[in-house]
Amino acid sequence: MRVIVAASGGVAALKTPSLLRRLAGAGHEVRAAATDDALHFVTKLSLAVAAGGEVFDRAAWFRPDGEARHLSWARWADVLVVAPATADALSSAATARADDVISALIVAGTPRVVWVPAMNTAMWHHPLVQENVRTLRAVGHHVLEPADGLLAAKGEGSGVGRMPEPEEIALHLAGLLGPRDLAGRRVLVSAGPTREPLDPVRYLSNPSSGKMGFAVAEAARDRGAGVTLVTGPVTLADPVGIATVRVERAEEMLAALSAHFDATDLVVMSAAVADWQAAEIASEKKAKGGERQTLELVRTPDILLTLAPRKRQQVVVGFAMETHQGVERAADKARRKQLDFILLNYPTREGSAFGGDDNQVTFVTPEGRVDELPRMSKRAVAEQILDRALGIWASRAEHAE
Ligand code: CTP
Repeated sequence: MRVIVAASGGVAALKTPSLLRRLAGAGHEVRAAATDDALHFVTKLSLAVAAGGEVFDRAAWFRPDGEARHLSWARWADVLVVAPATADALSSAATARADDVISALIVAGTPRVVWVPAMNTAMWHHPLVQENVRTLRAVGHHVLEPADGLLAAKGEGSGVGRMPEPEEIALHLAGLLGPRDLAGRRVLVSAGPTREPLDPVRYLSNPSSGKMGFAVAEAARDRGAGVTLVTGPVTLADPVGIATVRVERAEEMLAALSAHFDATDLVVMSAAVADWQAAEIASEKKAKGGERQTLELVRTPDILLTLAPRKRQQVVVGFAMETHQGVERAADKARRKQLDFILLNYPTREGSAFGGDDNQVTFVTPEGRVDELPRMSKRAVAEQILDRALGIWASRAEHAE
């Protein structure tokens, strides 16, 4: 793949050479471009060294032989990756201004464009910036969501707006530029916690962030699948290009998954479904009363167990959180719930905690075969799940012959 990586003017431009090196290392042909402002944050020389060639900036726009770089590079490239992308770069492209190297490359017809925004949280959430993002997505550009983390500008603290690390960007690009090996497949994913009300103002739930399930849904989308995501209450926004259904209770999650189950090829049940619900939901807020309270709870429906008898072509994947006897307990769950495999993790271990960006999982089959993976990003775990589902389909096809 021929990739132009273009930096606009943000502190994160420091990371652009590292992204170039990663993409070159993954076998892509790379070139670097930079706006005037980007060159306040990263030197032209470090971009040139990382790309292994001349940098396209304002000074190198027109060559003495008459070549116009925005035109020749737009023809050369398969994809333009703008990293970091400032609010200004998004705006310039959304209005086809073409007075900087990035919007000029886009208007000149670069076939695919991927944006990696990096800016202050308030700027990212501003309706005008979001309007520009919608405009760009509407013409087929891919705009990544910024990461949540430490922001560079003085006094800004943490928030959404940080540029994802080059490793994470490279992984997204691999998904985008890589094989569309799930084209034609239907994938159904559950994510997040469920919330079981006790009365109008109280509920039982757990700290699941939904990140694992969202990562699976996005990875499947990027590999060409048609994806439905059923999620409990989480703070994550609906991912672009994914039919997202929001539910609260386990019963609602069961109903939503059941409606899609039969037509699905792969079901990934990553939701942390509450096991218990109130025997009776009080219609009015209960006053706190004395020093002790007894709650009567009844089981929520077991979603995987309920759907298991309807399993036909579906590959079904579950998750098991254990604190002890992990493999035996996970394999037992996989057998009881008729899963093709289950991902075991230990929420008490570092790197697997609720809400993190990473996960450390062990794949366990119903027969007790075990494959322990190192700690990796949830997106990388998601790709592993999809690879394994493809492996199962391939071996089924072999046996059918
Ligand atoms: N699950 C489900 N319906 C429920 C509860 C869990 O479908 N009511 C799914 C989860 O999404 C997960 C798998 O089942 O994929 C986890 O199995 P489960 O036996 O519920 O795990 P634990 O809650 O850890 O079970 P236990 O408390 O029995 O160890």
